[in-house]
Amino acid sequence: MTHNKFKHWRIEKDDDNIIWLHFDRADSSTNILASDVLEEFNLCIDDIRSENPIGLVIISAKENGFIAGANIKEFAEMASSDQAYSVVKNVQSIFDKLEALSFPTVAAINGYCLGGGMELALACKRRIAVDDQKTRLALPEVLLGIHPGFGGTMRATRLLGGIDGLDMMLTGRRMSARAAKKLGLIDMAVPRRALENAARMLIKKPLIDKKPVNWKKVVEKILGRQIVANLITRKVKKKVSASHYPAPFALIDLWRNHSGDDKRMLDEEAKSISNLITEATAQNLIRAFFLQEKLKSIGKKSGTSFKHIHVIGAGIMGGDIAAWSALRGIKVTLQDREAKYLAPAIKRAHALFKKRLKDKRAVQAAMDRLIPDVKGEGIAKADLVVEAVFEDVTVKQNLLKEIEPKLKSDAFIATNTSSIPLEEIAGVMTNPARLVGVHFFNPVAKMMLVEVVRGRSTSDETFSHAVSYVHQIGKLPLPVKSEPGFLVNRILMPYLMEGVVMLGENIPAKKIDDAATRFGMPMGPILLADTVGLDICLHVANIFAERIGSDVPDNLKKLVEAGNLGKKSGKGFYEYKNGKPVIPETTVSSIGDGEIEDRLIMRFLNESVACLRDEIVEDNDLLDAGMIFGAGFAPFRGGPMKYIADTGAEKIVEKLKKLEEKYGDRFKADEWWGKL
Ligand code: COA
Repeated sequence: MTHNKFKHWRIEKDDDNIIWLHFDRADSSTNILASDVLEEFNLCIDDIRSENPIGLVIISAKENGFIAGANIKEFAEMASSDQAYSVVKNVQSIFDKLEALSFPTVAAINGYCLGGGMELALACKRRIAVDDQKTRLALPEVLLGIHPGFGGTMRATRLLGGIDGLDMMLTGRRMSARAAKKLGLIDMAVPRRALENAARMLIKKPLIDKKPVNWKKVVEKILGRQIVANLITRKVKKKVSASHYPAPFALIDLWRNHSGDDKRMLDEEAKSISNLITEATAQNLIRAFFLQEKLKSIGKKSGTSFKHIHVIGAGIMGGDIAAWSALRGIKVTLQDREAKYLAPAIKRAHALFKKRLKDKRAVQAAMDRLIPDVKGEGIAKADLVVEAVFEDVTVKQNLLKEIEPKLKSDAFIATNTSSIPLEEIAGVMTNPARLVGVHFFNPVAKMMLVEVVRGRSTSDETFSHAVSYVHQIGKLPLPVKSEPGFLVNRILMPYLMEGVVMLGENIPAKKIDDAATRFGMPMGPILLADTVGLDICLHVANIFAERIGSDVPDNLKKLVEAGNLGKKSGKGFYEYKNGKPVIPETTVSSIGDGEIEDRLIMRFLNESVACLRDEIVEDNDLLDAGMIFGAGFAPFRGGPMKYIADTGAEKIVEKLKKLEEKYGDRFKADEWWGKL
């Protein structure tokens, strides 16, 4: 029997009297649990129950995955907590009905199984997943400022215990099938070809659990929930504050107060998520998700695919760009003057492949894709040449003169310059339309954003190819205009320099950094300067001074002259022991914490507005996306422009005026504020 009365689901009964429920969300590449999908799912369960099969297998008809979660678009539209509560309770009742079916139920998982999808799988009696690189299981809701709401907090902690269950939800980490099996989240990890048979077997011959003793559950029993919850809370507090990110704390409290009483926990879970979802943190993190989707969709547009790239310069940036591209499946030839300059890059690449790919054969295949090429033979064969040599106009110009004639006719060049205008580099080219900027951030493996820089002479074709390349390697492309510092460094620089100026006024570094992290920045400006390297900061500050007329603080110059370059030299604004800053505890300061924060943040916001005036990016959303994914600007605030909108531009201009009176011109409100 097969019936197709539903839009998104197909019910099929086989000769063994097993029902296969295929999920294939209509008109979409991805299965998500949108409200109409869930409505139908409810009816499916009723139909299946009345069929009285020997078992039910829920399986996806999509190649890319099982289910990517509830519909995040609907989260953003939730008008009130009451509305959220009734939606969540309704879904909980559907999943309860699934759980209560009297016959064996199996979730047969391929690819993504996230959020609501994982919660649906948890309401099945058994879970199996495909053992390959694509399978990823997670409850990532905290990353959206909420926690699971379709029974996931109750079912995950009931299955895994509080320690592992909470850890899975607090980190939101994405697990492979093997890791999930080891944790006890799924019952089997099988090859793709065996998925259906394994599901059938589980239904016909139910597994007898022979689980080893879970020592974490034993520890939990001995210590008691209160103590375990306190320990976990303490750990979380070291990472985030409850006022910025309330969801992790609400999650721990749910378990602390209601674990063991399933019905009560479900109801409290629904109440808690309904309160969280309408609050600013969740709404801003949901906004950040859509900003990310916006950048992805820019990347999807052209659809060009690159088979071979050639990277020149095997320093930290060039080496890591090459490694990352090889990791993402592209053949890469990596060139530097001598083999000895290539060796460290290849070593770092190997470590990256091992960490990311785990499987030995996959690591070897990635190593095979990354080819040392001292002679530069790859230039003539590559679709794209990435230039990542020393940050010096003449060096770059000479290189371009040399390689342009060797390029394939349809290939182009991308420079990773962070500070030299593209036009200056392109000046020596026969066809400057073939030059574009791809500005990666350090560390390449961690930073999602890549600024794709359109120079005055860059052709549309070259630009869209560069955007496609960035998308192909799984990064987020941000189109920016070619102006000093592009977007991210231009906005970071005044914030960073204000920190340095305050140091010169004898305000303790820790006070300055604390003010920034309290606001929600991932790192204070002083530690950031030390981490980037003071020589690099000075270099960029000098370029800004030359082109925009900003000041270069004396204390920065002096440190660099003395060879104190920050973390890499063991001393900068802080001293470093074993790579960690030694931060002196000090509280004496001539100005209050509020004023320190204002000085840093107001300069950041003023420069953001100046970038809009200069049309560095197309709109407010792209500016917010750039600063969240390129500089880690407090995601729970939704980006600088969202923060300005929430606070009110007038209020900020008022603050700028006061700071201008006290500290001078650098706080002068940009003329563009009036247009906001
Ligand atoms: N809600 C709404 N839309 C979603 C979604 C969700 N949970 N998950 C994916 N989508 C949409 C995307 O917006 C995109 O739509 P588009 O084709 O109209 O642009 C489409 O599905 C494909 O997603 P995309 O992100 O472009 O594909 P990808 O392969 O790069 O990444 C995921 C796929 C699933 C990893 C990623 O989309 C993701 O992380 N989704 C959110 C997962 C999550 O947090 N779930 C928990 C919610 S309870």
